[in-house]
Amino acid sequence: MKYILVGTNRPQSNSRKIAEAIQKIYDHLDEKVEILDLKDFPFHELKGELYGKVLPENVMEWMRKINESEGLIVVVPEYNGSMPGALKYFIDFWSYPESFEHRPICMVGLGGMFGGLRPVEHLQQIFGYRNSFVFPDRVFMQNVWKIINAQGEITEKISMDLLMAQAKGFQAFCRALHTEKLDSYHLSLTRNKK
Ligand SMILES: Cc1cc2nc3c(=O)[nH]c(=O)nc-3n(C[C@H](O)[C@H](O)[C@H](O)COP(=O)(O)O)c2cc1C
Repeated sequence: MKYILVGTNRPQSNSRKIAEAIQKIYDHLDEKVEILDLKDFPFHELKGELYGKVLPENVMEWMRKINESEGLIVVVPEYNGSMPGALKYFIDFWSYPESFEHRPICMVGLGGMFGGLRPVEHLQQIFGYRNSFVFPDRVFMQNVWKIINAQGEITEKISMDLLMAQAKGFQAFCRALHTEKLDSYHLSLTRNKK
């Protein structure tokens, strides 16, 4: 299963609306993908003492989904020239190497005039550093509030076309890595044999 990660904990976020549009695109491509929205993540459970330690069960439910995902599509808004702190805080509780290594990652940015370029590039640094497979075709949504209507739908054709092309490409990317046994799933099998 692939997951779409909503990269903010803000209720009624534009990121969530874009995640839902992406989910419909995957539906159209005959693939069910699940949304993980950080507004639902139990942040109250996280404490500084827990870094690298056994996490509470309701946090582990999320971590298991990350660790078992065949691909992650991260929708990230720009907050103060980077990703939301909530997203980085969540990522800092992921396990290394299991959550990151060889995991296929796809990114969609949203924001003002730069369309979320900065948070996407910051995330590329993190996932690159942690040896994930970052899909190169990123999508940026400039002045995002102008292209989402009152029903939460994306009204700009070019953005929908780019999301569709990205989804088709990411499906092929994940399939190719899996077929060649290069993805995180196969890496975990090798790791567990040792
Ligand atoms: C705390 C905060 C900081 C923001 N900082 C930036 C910024 O640095 N650059 C930018 O282009 N937009 C910035 N914005 C605008 C958001 O990128 C834009 O409103 C986007 O829709 C927010 O995503 P969300 O609806 O998923 O929370 C900021 C918004 C918030 C809430």
